[in-house]
Amino acid sequence: MIVLKTERLTLRPLAPGDAEAYAAMRYHPDVAKWLSLAPAAPVDSARAAIERYRQSWRDRGYGPWAIFRDGGLIGHAGLNYVPEFGETEVLWSLHPDAWGNGFATEAARASLDFGFRTRELDLIFAVTRPDNLASQAVMKRLGLVYRRDVVYRDVDSVWFDIDRPGWLRLPP
Ligand SMILES: CC(C)(COP(=O)(O)OP(=O)(O)OC[C@H]1O[C@@H](n2cnc3c(N)ncnc32)[C@H](O)[C@@H]1OP(=O)(O)O)[C@@H](O)C(=O)NCCC(=O)NCCS
Repeated sequence: MIVLKTERLTLRPLAPGDAEAYAAMRYHPDVAKWLSLAPAAPVDSARAAIERYRQSWRDRGYGPWAIFRDGGLIGHAGLNYVPEFGETEVLWSLHPDAWGNGFATEAARASLDFGFRTRELDLIFAVTRPDNLASQAVMKRLGLVYRRDVVYRDVDSVWFDIDRPGWLRLPP
């Protein structure tokens, strides 16, 4: 199991025991409105997502982590292969109580570093809705660049990405 420590956070692969705290974060109304969530009960949906992510860790050696701060689960961040695009995305969400502290950027930076340096991925992208400016601000802070508009799971979205040489050139 790959656990990462950043300056302020611990990233640990999501596990079945996280389902309730994970559901409370994902289904908080201010978070859920930005995500395309399955129409299932929150804890059941969280369990299913955790199982998909565990499969990704087994198959690909990467996946989303739960983000812990002072022992509590505050969100998720990490890498997710998207078959529709044949590429790997970096994703993030935080419970609103944790917004405004740079935690998403800190966790995503560790995720990108792991993806490019440890897993040697060639390209990592991020997509979000055009009006999700908070998420686009995270993308820009990380050095991802807007490339085009796309439709992702029937939703109009904007696509940002960065490739490995571009990531390795960024100042630390
Ligand atoms: C997208 C989301 C994770 C962004 O969270 P966030 O807290 O705005 O982003 P960061 O963690 O990078 O924090 C940045 C903010 O912290 C501030 N900050 C405070 N202390 C900081 C520190 N030590 N280091 C860096 N930034 C700090 C920054 O100034 C910035 O504030 P601003 O938004 O007023 O400019 C959050 O809005 C969210 O979970 N939204 C709902 C779900 C969602 O949209 N997920 C993405 C789907 S694509």
